[in-house]
Amino acid sequence: EAFADLAGLHVVVSAGGTREPLDPVRFLGNRSSGRQGYALARTAAARGARVTLVEANTQLPDPAGVDVVHVGTAVELRTAVIAAARDADAVVMAAAVADFRPSEYATGKIKKKDGREPAPIALVRNPDILAEISADRPRADQVIVGFAAETDDVLANGRDKLRRKGCDLLVVNEVGERRTFGSDDNEAVILATDGTETPVPHGPKEVLSDTVWDLVLPLLR
Ligand code: C5P
Repeated sequence: EAFADLAGLHVVVSAGGTREPLDPVRFLGNRSSGRQGYALARTAAARGARVTLVEANTQLPDPAGVDVVHVGTAVELRTAVIAAARDADAVVMAAAVADFRPSEYATGKIKKKDGREPAPIALVRNPDILAEISADRPRADQVIVGFAAETDDVLANGRDKLRRKGCDLLVVNEVGERRTFGSDDNEAVILATDGTETPVPHGPKEVLSDTVWDLVLPLLR
């Protein structure tokens, strides 16, 4: 790609996985490492973009030249993404956002009670941030990209998800044992609303990231 072809653009990337607390010491979480989102942030910065990275629970150092906002839960991630997206040209939701959170937070550590069965954990639905920002765009020309990890019927489920979420591009990963999470590599198909499918062969997350930015650019014009 051309050098600095994202110059003058502000892009927002979410990365990592949300943690939904049960009590001060426990949470419901997921295995997202945040590496794909960080690769998206690094490649966008390298191509000249101003980058805001909204990070949830990664173990990764802040990339140089990127504004990083640290969050924990889905509700916090939503607030940070919506604030950063107000003046953004593109938003890429690479974070693994918990679909549900415990309906109650215990301010003291939950204790086991002798001879009693454990209480079930009641859950409530988290906001779907990708669907929400796609439906309520602060700018009509903003480009929004989602990610989807699917275990089967990858393309059919991806197409369906692209329509349901209302975003412009959906990066679909096939996941399973030992695939994608925590790895430096990724393999995906990028679906666009015009029906285009761009396969990205197994390779570094930077290569997939650059392909995402290559597909975002013409949609901005
Ligand atoms: O529905 P699913 O979780 O498979 O969708 C994945 C995509 O939706 C990702 O881009 C993720 O960041 C986003 N998402 C979201 N808010 C949620 C759940 C997922 O923005 N509550």
